[in-house]
Amino acid sequence: MIALTTPYLWFATRATGIVVMLLFTAVVALGTLVANRVGGTFIGRFEVNEVHRSLSMVAMFFLAIHIVTTVLDSFVSTGLISAFIPMTSTYKRVPVALGAVAFDLLLAVWISSLLKLRIKNQSWRFIHWFSWLAFATSLVHGYLTGTDAHKGIGMLLVAGCAGFVALAGIWRFLGRPTRAAGRTALSPLASPPVPPRPRLPESFPKTPPRPPASRGRR
Ligand code: HEM
Repeated sequence: MIALTTPYLWFATRATGIVVMLLFTAVVALGTLVANRVGGTFIGRFEVNEVHRSLSMVAMFFLAIHIVTTVLDSFVSTGLISAFIPMTSTYKRVPVALGAVAFDLLLAVWISSLLKLRIKNQSWRFIHWFSWLAFATSLVHGYLTGTDAHKGIGMLLVAGCAGFVALAGIWRFLGRPTRAAGRTALSPLASPPVPPRPRLPESFPKTPPRPPASRGRR
């Protein structure tokens, strides 16, 4: 097998790790705005929801680069399988395993959101709770695995993201309006499910009755 290692792959892993962490912080914070039904005349609820969705796609894109650069860099013995299956990396086994757990949870959240109109709302909501766990796990992964996350600005960013999401989580529960219970805004891009047509009784005429032929003058 060809050994591929350059400091640039390592730099890319570190940089994308920090970018993904910042993006997920914004995505989780925006998610709490959606859940608590923030939005009015200036910025509508649908717009907040769309920014939440779009930013989550951008975060997944950077996460993909983070994983690909890790796997490509043969300086660390982390194969593609280690991105999905925890404890299979020989390089920093437990910290990388936490990254894999976060990634698996995020995949579940992402796939369930793509299937939102096809699965029960309750199931979608249950799976969407995983995003809190994914965020916490990925933060511990970043702190334990990272080169930059231990010191200086890197550590400040990790602490800042953790604090920000903790505050957003507290507000999510305390500030939730009662009318919001049980429902989340649907994207305007997604068409709502069509309600089933009511069944007509058997005796109902298949064609409308014709009007009686007029016997008057033509
Ligand atoms: C939601 C998922 C993930 C997030 C948010 C995330 C985030 C981060 C962060 C913030 C760092 C620290 C960067 C630094 O300070 O240098 C990092 C490092 C790292 N991550 Fe991830 N990561 C995730 C998933 C994964 C997965 C699945 C893998 C395995 C393929 C992985 C492999 C690595 C490696 C090897 C490093 C160490 C880079 C270094 O040597 O500095 N990460 N990650």
